[in-house]
Amino acid sequence: MKPFVRVNCAMSADGKLAGEERKQIRISSDEDIKRVKELRRSYNAILVGVGTVIADDPHLTIKNADYEENPVRIILDSNGRTPDSARVLDGKAPTLVITNESCTKEWPGVEAIRCGKDHVDLTRLMDILSKEYNIESIIVEGGGETIASFFREKLVDEYSVFVGGLIIGGRDAPTPSDGSGWVAEGGIRLNLFSAETLGNGVLLTFLPEY
Ligand SMILES: NC(=O)c1ccc[n+]([C@@H]2O[C@H](COP(=O)([O-])OP(=O)(O)OC[C@H]3O[C@@H](n4cnc5c(N)ncnc54)[C@H](OP(=O)(O)O)[C@@H]3O)[C@@H](O)[C@H]2O)c1
Repeated sequence: MKPFVRVNCAMSADGKLAGEERKQIRISSDEDIKRVKELRRSYNAILVGVGTVIADDPHLTIKNADYEENPVRIILDSNGRTPDSARVLDGKAPTLVITNESCTKEWPGVEAIRCGKDHVDLTRLMDILSKEYNIESIIVEGGGETIASFFREKLVDEYSVFVGGLIIGGRDAPTPSDGSGWVAEGGIRLNLFSAETLGNGVLLTFLPEY
């Protein structure tokens, strides 16, 4: 069975994940940051695209957690662009970098999975993660191109977005479902599951209708 996939991200009140120069900006309230920290504890893995690794250099760990307590970190990186100095390679959590089949790049202490001809083949990856790594649940934390790909492949089971009290602007600023083209002809309809005020923003949780 494929892992349960929850997308979780934070966007500004004008629908942006970050500014045009793609640098990380604080959108979440303190309450939302606390929620995300707790959420990570109940998932087997946290997944992001290499664009997020390059832009934000996140740790993707739980504060003060041991190696074994941390969820597996998964990076989609078809062509091996993850810098050797990236924090996700710090050895503090089990880490998988997913490249395409022609990439030969290796990173010390990290397992590379070759999956897909051009971009990472997400449907196949879900199968590998479930069967070979016993991963039953994944939080996809961004960025926009990664989230769009999960929707395009109809792999998202739950979508939660924190809408924070901030306007960012910028035609080219990243959005939660980014990149070119529709995710599906006419879009993907979502059913609102819950709406919760968390400090100066609101957490919206939707279930996709495929
Ligand atoms: N506010 C938030 O919650 C939040 C969270 C995370 C990130 N962000 C922001 O989002 C921005 C980064 O987002 P992004 O869209 O540029 O990058 P991204 O989604 O993090 O990474 C996209 C890259 O992943 C690689 N990739 C490999 N297989 C893929 C697949 N099947 N589908 C999609 N991508 C695949 C591609 O690079 P290759 O072709 O080289 O493989 C692609 O360019 C930054 O500004 C960051 O600050 C915000």
